[in-house]
Amino acid sequence: MNSKEIIEQYNSAVVSSYGRLDLALECGSGAQGTDADGKPLIDFGSGIGTNSLGYADNEWADAVSQQAHKMQHVSNYYYNSTAAEFADKLTAMTGTDKLFFGNSGAEANECAIKIARKRSFDKYGDPNRTTIITLVNSFHGRTVTTLSATGQEHFHNYFFPFTPGFKYVEANNIQALREAIDPTVCAIMFEFIQGEGGVNVLEQSFVDEIFALAKQHDLATVSDEVQTGMGRTARLLAAEYFGVKPDIVTLAKGLGGGLPIGVCLTRGEYAEVLTPGTHGSTFGGNPVVCAGGLVVLKRLSDPAFMAELEKKAAYFRSSLENLPKVKSVTGLGLMLGAELDGIAASDVLKAALDKGLLVLTAKTKLRCLPPLTISYEQIDAGMAILKEVLENE
Ligand SMILES: Cc1ncc(COP(=O)(O)O)c(C=O)c1O
Repeated sequence: MNSKEIIEQYNSAVVSSYGRLDLALECGSGAQGTDADGKPLIDFGSGIGTNSLGYADNEWADAVSQQAHKMQHVSNYYYNSTAAEFADKLTAMTGTDKLFFGNSGAEANECAIKIARKRSFDKYGDPNRTTIITLVNSFHGRTVTTLSATGQEHFHNYFFPFTPGFKYVEANNIQALREAIDPTVCAIMFEFIQGEGGVNVLEQSFVDEIFALAKQHDLATVSDEVQTGMGRTARLLAAEYFGVKPDIVTLAKGLGGGLPIGVCLTRGEYAEVLTPGTHGSTFGGNPVVCAGGLVVLKRLSDPAFMAELEKKAAYFRSSLENLPKVKSVTGLGLMLGAELDGIAASDVLKAALDKGLLVLTAKTKLRCLPPLTISYEQIDAGMAILKEVLENE
C-alpha cells in the first residue's frame, strides 16, 4: 500500500484524536526513517523522544526478538529474570531503591500521585492532606487524573469531573510557591524542563526552593522525567544538573528504546508505601519490553557513549543557534527548543517534512528530540534542510 492508501485505511478505522500529518512511516535505521512511498526522512523527533537508540538498532532488535522467542509475558503474580535484571540495573543507575512497572508516562505519574497521597495518609491519617502542587504549563499525561495534574487550563475541558486536589504555581515563581503551601499539601510535582509546555528549563533557585519547602513541610518531591530522563539531556537524569534527589521519579518515553514502558522510581520510605493489592498493571514489567530497555541501559552506562552524547548535543545546539531566524535556543542536551523570528514553528515543521526532515513543536517553539545515536552527518543534513526552510519560507 502507498502512503495515501494507508492514511485512508487508518482514518477509516481509528478515532481522530490526533491532528496527524500526511506521513506513513514504514521502516528506518538509526536517525533515518523511510515512508511508505520510499521517501527517506531524517528524524529530529525520535517518535517524540521514544526511539532513543534510533530506528531498529541491531543490538536492541536482537535482544527484543530473542526475548520474544523465549517468553513474551509473565503475570505480575510471578517473577521473571529479565524484568528483575532491568529493575535492579535501573534502580542502581538512578540511585533509587525500588520501582513500579507500568506502560506509559501517564501511568508512571498516576503511580507517583498514588504513592505521594498514600504516604501522606499512612503517616498523618488526614484524608485532606492530599493536595499536589504542580506547575503552570506542565504536562503530565492524558488520564483524567494526570490531566488534572497538568497545569494548562485548556486540558481541563470535556471530561468532567476532573480529579480534585491539584494546585498550579507558575514555574520559577518562588513567592507563589511559598504562598501555595498550606496544611492540605502533600507533594510538589514538576518537570525539570517543561517539554510540551515549551522546553522551559527550571531555574536552580526555584528547584532549590522546592526541595527546601518539601523538607520544611514534609512534602514528597516528584520529578516527572518522562521526557527529560534516560539520556535525553545528555545525562541519565535531568536531576543531575540540579544536584537534587527527588523522592519519586517517573520515566517513560526513551526508556524502552521505542517499546511501551513507564516506571515510577522511589527512594527511602516512598519505596515501601505500596503494599499488595494497592496498585497494579497487567503488562507492567513485560519481559520483551525489559529486554529492549536493558540495551538502552547498557548504552547509557557506557562512559564513552555518554561522553560522545554530550559532544554531539553541544554540536547540535550550536548548529541550531546558528540557523537564520532562530532567536534563542532553550533546553539541555538533545532536548532543545528554538524560538523563531517572524515564522511559525508549525509552518517550519510542515515545510521541513516536505523536504525530508521530521521535527517537532512545543507551544511557539520548534522542538528537537533526535535519537541519542544520531550521527554528525545526519545532524548536518537535517540542519541544512532547516536552513533552507527558514531562509525561504
Ligand atoms: C513530561 C511528560 N509527562 C508525561 C507524559 C505522558 O506520557 P505518555 O504519553 O507516555 O502517557 C508526557 C508525554 O508527552 C510528558 O512529556
